[in-house]
Amino acid sequence: MSTATQENPHTARQGYDRDLRVAVLGVGMMGQDHARRLATLTKGAQLVAVSDVDAARTDAVAAEFGVRALHDPLAAIEDPDVDAVVVATPGFTHEDLVLRAIAAGRPTLCEKPLTTSPQTSRAVVEAERALGRRLVQVGFMRRFDAEYERLRALIASAELGRPLFLHCAHRNATTPPNFSSEMLILDSVVHEVDVARFLLGEEITAITVLTPGRTSHAPQGLQDPQFVLMETASGTLVDVEIFVNTTVGYEVRTELVAERGSAQIGLGVGLVRHSAAGWGGAVPGDFRQRFGAAYDTEFQRWVDAVRSGAGVDGPGVWDGYAAAAVCAAGVESLRTGRRVEVDLGERPDGLG
Ligand SMILES: NC(=O)c1ccc[n+]([C@@H]2O[C@H](COP(=O)([O-])OP(=O)(O)OC[C@H]3O[C@@H](n4cnc5c(N)ncnc54)[C@H](O)[C@@H]3O)[C@@H](O)[C@H]2O)c1
Repeated sequence: MSTATQENPHTARQGYDRDLRVAVLGVGMMGQDHARRLATLTKGAQLVAVSDVDAARTDAVAAEFGVRALHDPLAAIEDPDVDAVVVATPGFTHEDLVLRAIAAGRPTLCEKPLTTSPQTSRAVVEAERALGRRLVQVGFMRRFDAEYERLRALIASAELGRPLFLHCAHRNATTPPNFSSEMLILDSVVHEVDVARFLLGEEITAITVLTPGRTSHAPQGLQDPQFVLMETASGTLVDVEIFVNTTVGYEVRTELVAERGSAQIGLGVGLVRHSAAGWGGAVPGDFRQRFGAAYDTEFQRWVDAVRSGAGVDGPGVWDGYAAAAVCAAGVESLRTGRRVEVDLGERPDGLG
């Protein structure tokens, strides 16, 4: 039974002393992965329903997990037997689903991006502010990765002094069909935007995107790689090499250079094998391998936060809005070749 006093279920801070009943909206690649996580791993949660605009896919995934198949994703949000939702649909659908969830008072874990434009993300920030409590967490899972957490703690300790540079590399083996030059910023660099804000604890104020010579492995018309330079409010520089047709694997590295030393994460030296063939390790195939444990932690902490009544434990709507604004400026810089400044406006009090 729910523990909350239910004067107004839309605005009351609500906790649960039973398992949280979760529906996953959108059961493609990420949604199926998250459904499996909720059904098999996350404590204090029950996967109770899945919902996708593809009815056959909804039925197949529901049957696989033995849960309800709900064919209308908007109605699923308001279903009385659903306490909270995970949004794992394509980014352009997030605005409608998340605004409906806020209107219904449903705690939501929304995969990145929060929405696809700064304007619509700002509308979500305002909707949550009007509600008066934190309800939406954004799926920037790297914040739950142990290496990023250690780097953040090192920066916060000031042991190495003031951060001067963050050098980031983000590489994928190949891209899916129809991947556009803008998507390198909107789908990939968006993670670096969020980790830079997370690690440094400040906003990004300008972005410049440079376009070096293309790899011969990039599909026709795709500007790959790109080099992104971000400036923070205090003057730290963050550079990102984004290269998504390396033919190698999934590699994400970050190096901090500070006044009294440097630190690196993402070297991938977990297991070093020696054999007659030589020595070395393995390059992860994709983000589900590299960040699998981070997704697990993200889900556990989200479920714990919703059950406790806190609603969110991690990046919130402001973080989603900031990432959308920086990425929109990045796309403008990619198109114009110019440095573009970012002005987020005023941050509402009390929102994450
Ligand atoms: N955090 C990460 O590391 C990470 C990695 C990959 C993808 N993502 C994000 O996850 C989300 C889903 O990506 P994906 O790769 O799983 O996509 P996908 O195309 O594999 O799956 C999307 C699913 O959503 C369904 N769908 C479309 N519109 C819908 C709607 N209005 N309501 C309900 N279902 C709808 C589609 O039929 C499909 O089954 C995207 O926002 C993407 O950016 C995050």
